[in-house]
Amino acid sequence: MQVDVLIGLQWGDEGKGKIVDFLSPQYGMVARFQGGPNAGHTIKIGEDKYVLHIIPSGIFNKGTLNLIGNGVVIDPIVLNWEISKLEDKKFNVRDQLMISNKAHLILPTHKLIDATSEFSKGKMKIGSTLKGIGPTYMDKTGRNGLRMGDIFLPNFIEKYELLKNKHINIIKQFDSIPDFDIEGEEKKFFDSLEILKNFNILDSEYFINSFLASGKSVLAEGAQGTMLDIDYGTYPYVTSSNTVSAGVSVGLGVAPTKIKKVIGIAKAYATRVGSGPFPTELEDETGEKIREIGHEYGATTGRKRRCGWIDLPQLKYSIMINGVTEIALTKLDILNSFDEIEVCTAYEHNDGRITDQLPYDLVNIKVRPKFEKFKGWNSDISGIRKRTELPPNASDYVEMLERELKVPFKYISVGPERSSLMVD
Ligand code: GDP
Ligand code: IMO
Ligand code: MG
Repeated sequence: MQVDVLIGLQWGDEGKGKIVDFLSPQYGMVARFQGGPNAGHTIKIGEDKYVLHIIPSGIFNKGTLNLIGNGVVIDPIVLNWEISKLEDKKFNVRDQLMISNKAHLILPTHKLIDATSEFSKGKMKIGSTLKGIGPTYMDKTGRNGLRMGDIFLPNFIEKYELLKNKHINIIKQFDSIPDFDIEGEEKKFFDSLEILKNFNILDSEYFINSFLASGKSVLAEGAQGTMLDIDYGTYPYVTSSNTVSAGVSVGLGVAPTKIKKVIGIAKAYATRVGSGPFPTELEDETGEKIREIGHEYGATTGRKRRCGWIDLPQLKYSIMINGVTEIALTKLDILNSFDEIEVCTAYEHNDGRITDQLPYDLVNIKVRPKFEKFKGWNSDISGIRKRTELPPNASDYVEMLERELKVPFKYISVGPERSSLMVD
């Protein structure tokens, strides 16, 4: 009957996949509404670890359908590879997965443009995952794109060639073009599409609305995070989609009036992968320690994630933009061995002005974070399942965050497994 939304409140990698997997038995459907294979959502089930890029994280729950919505951009090669990995593990992807015919296709040459354009930017590069996200959304808004439903058209190849040639002309404008096996990628692209033709490719907006009308509920799974949103993130160091809760309506075709809960996911500290401003970043051994204990390496690219302390002005902004109704705090266990934990409570401008608002442009307007110190708990909390059993310093830390952010902390996560969670 209702759509709940789950989104990242920081710069991505907050642990969305784990929480979606945990919540999926409560929903008839999990639906991705934006982004594409730039996402890497990790789910740990027993000894097995899965990283999902395009398939929603509800796929491990037998009774849950999983929809790749119209707002997503699909690389058929990645999707096909992901399906086969799950099928090898005996998950029933074919019956549980639906794909919108309006989702745009990432062509091999979109990935080549992504790489060419990034390399041309030198030091100014975004730090893109190079999965072709930006160029595909550019073709979507530029009204040149190809969509999943187009693969059934008799003139699909013609349309493909037209767009590919446009891309090749764009690439020729650049001084240096990275190595790229266009023919090899093209073969994989078409082979993958042939396999995907056997999947449920449908008018997803009709499907999801009749699903809701029949009394079932949907969890919309965000990718990336609010600070990577094309409008509200640290532009231009962002991704190319609306990662915020408002993106759900356009990315799935469900009216805003259908949306009920907005579950925000926040790590107990902060990370960012790729370039761009990050006010609370720690470029010292403390940052290094968080990275090592938290295994903060990209799930999609393997790159080192930049680490820092939690940032309250940033989180308050995300809560405001998304209308967050409850929070899942993740990776609290990573702070087990710190004597002191710092929290950014405000920013100081160059002229000495103190604010708790994010400046419009964090790239050119420099702010210094103002920190408050809290005592660490120096003990292992990963086995704790009740909030009341947290050591006093851990409990104080969580309560302080909850008080400041003014949103109930419904979940506190203390490990990568489904069960490593306190539910309030
Ligand atoms: P997502 O993109 O938001 O789904 O997050 P990622 O999967 O990219 O990164 C989160 C990482 O932290 C993954 O390796 C998860 O298995 C892991 N993780 C999630 N929650 C917790 C937690 O509470 N504690 C610990 N130690 N690891 C967690
Ligand atoms: P999940 O869903 C963290 C970052 C990239 C880069 C910028 C633009 O796992 O949280 P793009 O490939 O979109 O052109 O990259 O956004 N980025 C992510 N960072 N988690 C993600 O997804 C990300 N998806 C993109 O590192 O800085
Ligand atoms: Mg991730």
